[in-house]
Amino acid sequence: MRPPGDKSISHRAFIFGLLSRGETTIEGLLEGDDVLHTGEACRALGARVERLGEGRWRVEGLGVGALLDPRDTLDFGNAGTGSRLMMGVVGGHGVQATFDGDASLRKRPMRRILDPLRLMGAQVVAEAEGGRCPITLRGAADPAPILYRTPVASAQIKSAVLLAGLNARGRTTVIETEASRDHTEKMLAHFGAEVSVEIEGDGRKITLTGRPELRPRPVVVPVDPSSAAFPIVAALIAPGSDIIVEGVMMNPLRTGLIKTLIEMGASIETLDARREGGEDVADLRVRASALKGVNVPASRAPSMIDEYPILAVASAFAQGETRMNGLHELRVKESDRLAAVAAGLAAAHVEHEITGDDLIVAGKGRPPAGGGLVATHLDHRIAMSFLVMGLASEKPMAIDDATMIATSFPSFRQLMESLGARFA
Ligand code: S3P
Repeated sequence: MRPPGDKSISHRAFIFGLLSRGETTIEGLLEGDDVLHTGEACRALGARVERLGEGRWRVEGLGVGALLDPRDTLDFGNAGTGSRLMMGVVGGHGVQATFDGDASLRKRPMRRILDPLRLMGAQVVAEAEGGRCPITLRGAADPAPILYRTPVASAQIKSAVLLAGLNARGRTTVIETEASRDHTEKMLAHFGAEVSVEIEGDGRKITLTGRPELRPRPVVVPVDPSSAAFPIVAALIAPGSDIIVEGVMMNPLRTGLIKTLIEMGASIETLDARREGGEDVADLRVRASALKGVNVPASRAPSMIDEYPILAVASAFAQGETRMNGLHELRVKESDRLAAVAAGLAAAHVEHEITGDDLIVAGKGRPPAGGGLVATHLDHRIAMSFLVMGLASEKPMAIDDATMIATSFPSFRQLMESLGARFA
């Protein structure tokens, strides 16, 4: 089976298309609601965005420094990444835009993005309480290049600063003490910007020279490891399974879950490791496995930040305790994922505990009882994780809402049914 294209790269493909002068072609784009909202925002800022076929798109941009004032509010739906990256773009250009989205997006903290943008000269014209959406941002026509240390490991903060820095005269530097996903840096280089990355301990120092002429480049989007995570864990916990997941991106800043599952005893074999579209990819053969509990260090969090809900599900089937350390960032995702995972585990009668920022799941080495109804709080990963649990728990699992699965994995039901899952 082949899960859809990577969400992080798909958002960025549209944005780099907007910021390059001429025609960017994209293949394998994730056509999920989140990414389509980013495409709409690119249109509103002046790009021509056209669908050529399944996953195939063309974007004709105006180039760095040449955006239009959008007429209407930019609606990002459920998408934290789309909205935050685009705040970086707007913040570094002399345009004004209002950012908004659904009830989940309206709860998410945006000060972490607005703070560095203010240092670069952007003005926050209006914001809801606590620095939340709807937010009206007046970008800086001549943004100041800054040196910024990200206060938390976040590719979204790093990317917003770099995207604003594209239109700054001089060098913008971002320092992160723990490395987060590096898709923005890689795409900056791919589109012809001058960008350097120095490794500093566990972190990185990224320096970008502003005002480049970005050249349109073809983008091939690899399979999203965060979506592949669901069929992978499904195969591990459903007895007798033996599947191949094709073309999974194996960027080391995204493979924390695979590493953890292998430590737990998962049978995951890498077949045909190769490079596609500038990323390492591989086919993964996954067979049902007896898992054991492990300790997941906090330092691994940035490389598997979106995979903790599905890891919690795998842990519920494992023998012994799995301790996931340092999960504070989970509280500010599409939902408070720490609370939502704990509530889901409780609904499935899985013994667990939250201490500080750590989640401990006590697996019994056999399927949990299941049978509960899980509140998803507009969070696609909570929805998919507990549906996967229901494949192998004693009783099936139910969720209160499945519509938001389309934000990241519109073909989830169909692909899981093709592997033998049954939904009602
Ligand atoms: C993303 C970064 C992560 C991740 C999100 C996608 C990105 O957020 O949770 O789903 O594409 O840059 P943070 O960087 O804020 O942790």
